[in-house]
Amino acid sequence: MQPLFVPAALLRCISLATIFLSLALSFTALVEAASKSPLMDRDFPDPSILQDTDGMWYAFATASGNKNIQVARAPAPAGPWQYIDQDMLPSTGSWTTGRNTWAPDVRLIAPGRYVMYYSGELGNNSALHCIGTATSSSVLGPYTPSSTPFACPVSQGGAIDPAGFYDSSTGRRYVVYKVDGNSIGHGGDCNNGIEPTVPTPVLLQEVSPSDGVTLLTDSAPVTILDRTAAADGPLVEAPDLLRAPDGTYVLFYSNHCWNSPAYSVNYATANSVTGPYTKSVRPLIGTGDGFNVTAPGGATSVSGAGSMVFHANCLQGRCLFHAQFSMNGVTVRVS
Ligand SMILES: *[C@@H]1O[C@H](CO)[C@@H](O)[C@H](O)[C@H]1NC(C)=O
Ligand SMILES: *[C@@H]1O[C@H](CO)[C@@H](O)[C@H](O)[C@H]1NC(C)=O
Repeated sequence: MQPLFVPAALLRCISLATIFLSLALSFTALVEAASKSPLMDRDFPDPSILQDTDGMWYAFATASGNKNIQVARAPAPAGPWQYIDQDMLPSTGSWTTGRNTWAPDVRLIAPGRYVMYYSGELGNNSALHCIGTATSSSVLGPYTPSSTPFACPVSQGGAIDPAGFYDSSTGRRYVVYKVDGNSIGHGGDCNNGIEPTVPTPVLLQEVSPSDGVTLLTDSAPVTILDRTAAADGPLVEAPDLLRAPDGTYVLFYSNHCWNSPAYSVNYATANSVTGPYTKSVRPLIGTGDGFNVTAPGGATSVSGAGSMVFHANCLQGRCLFHAQFSMNGVTVRVS
């Protein structure tokens, strides 16, 4: 065997390469530590989350398969999540087609009174959606829908993506939702990429704190957010409101089109529930960040605590994910 002769220059190359490789490996390890996997191997879009009085956690999701509204249960927001093979909303209300029921959000309003806010497809009009409410005396239903929609701005494109919010600092209760302007847009990205573009505002509607559905006298909905083409593309949607312990109101929302990798979870903050809300500069969760997820959106936070569920693309469609978040002033960080 010939003795191996390695020139000094090559040795330096090898040691540089080794350093580079170990740096690359430790970087990969960091990314791997933060990357997220679906919590259930099934299509479970637009999740909301609620802790019931027995301590268990329930997540509700958009129609899939033969169910109008899906549900799953877990001992903690991070899981393990177990799918429950029951339709939470077998009847979606006489004002709906019964198809394409989206983005449920269930809140416990008072002992034995659960209200589900959801997006139903209008039975009388070309595939527009409006907000419906349904009530139940137990978390797993059956939920009985109201015979009329809760909010239905047909001339502005209808409404979708409701979420309840209880402000413990004032004892007032609200519903936030998106006016579905892009449903009457003029084509392109999510039907709102071509001029003239249409507003897709997020509205805040105060409701009775005792039943969660009755509009208070003289309480008109207030616009608290809208799209700008540069920051949000065709739309903002999927609002979810939270009051942080320091009194900051945090409005989570999704922007861009749900079927594009630009879809992301964002947030805006305000000192008052009615705003003005200031948008964060960068998405909170986006495609290709450390979570290694694609088209994340539809986030709902656990009220009063630093945890959220959201969906992102997966083999089955859009799967359930979970993240922790922390706040430092008006800055939110996820992990
Ligand atoms: C990122 O996600 C893809 C597809 O889901 C997966 O194949 C890959 O292993 C993930 N990478 C990391 C670092 O987790
Ligand atoms: C369709 O139904 C909704 C909700 O009941 C109502 O607000 C709207 O005016 C109706 N539209 C037409 C064209 O009848």
